[in-house]
Amino acid sequence: MNLVEFESVTKRYQLGEVEVTALNSVNFTVQKGDFVAITGPSGSGKTTMLNLIGCLDSTTSGEIRVAGQPVSKLNDRELDLLRSRTYGIIFQNFNLVPVLSALENVMLPLYLHGLSKAEMRNRAQASLAAVNLTRFAGFRPDQLSGGQRQRVAVARALVTEPKLILADEPTASLDTASALSLVGLMKQLNTERKVTFVFSTHDQRLLQHVKRVVELRDGRLTDSASIESAQQAAAAKTDESEVA
Ligand SMILES: Nc1ncnc2c1ncn2[C@@H]1O[C@H](COP(=O)(O)OP(=O)(O)O)[C@@H](O)[C@H]1O
Ligand SMILES: [Mg+2]
Repeated sequence: MNLVEFESVTKRYQLGEVEVTALNSVNFTVQKGDFVAITGPSGSGKTTMLNLIGCLDSTTSGEIRVAGQPVSKLNDRELDLLRSRTYGIIFQNFNLVPVLSALENVMLPLYLHGLSKAEMRNRAQASLAAVNLTRFAGFRPDQLSGGQRQRVAVARALVTEPKLILADEPTASLDTASALSLVGLMKQLNTERKVTFVFSTHDQRLLQHVKRVVELRDGRLTDSASIESAQQAAAAKTDESEVA
């Protein structure tokens, strides 16, 4: 079953007198085990799309189904439950709590899950180990590098064992080496632990490490498969004209 399905999803924002179409008839699916990058220039609709995938916003028209359930039919309580059971979220600016240690930051999402303190601690430690930060468990965010902070954020997103991790430009505040290492880590979690990732980026250097790339242009989505076939068609056309 598809984890997430978009069927002809349109999202419009009203800005005073002006209406902005942020997403235009988008069809899109995420399957278990996917590792998808949403790319496209600034303003193309990436954040809008991630917010819709994460059920943080509602569509203007079209339907979104998460684990087969049409999201528009759920009430607030059902939506909260679906969100907390489905998603882990990594923010662009890490969003770590400055006065808490790395371990305590990673434990935070577990407070909603009714676990004992010892169990929360164990799971947070396992999650920090998965991102190679065991040694830094007691460090506060200001004692860590940018790359390490973002790995804490990945550990925090992992700790609830979500079905899908969403990340909006997770590498935007990182230098190239840290950005590549973060994508490497996500890829490793995807391969070894079958964690599903959907993230946005406008950094072309990261895209070669991704299984699937979809591209937004002015709110319209092109899948990597169709990008490839368009490229092949263009190449074939060039060949033809060379022959002619
Ligand atoms: N809350 C909002 N109110 C009005 N317009 C918005 C809002 N959020 C996004 N937009 C507009 O929707 C379009 C897509 O924005 P966004 O999804 O943030 O793109 P991206 O993340 O690719 O930069 C832009 O034209 C943006 O100005
Ligand atoms: Mg954005």
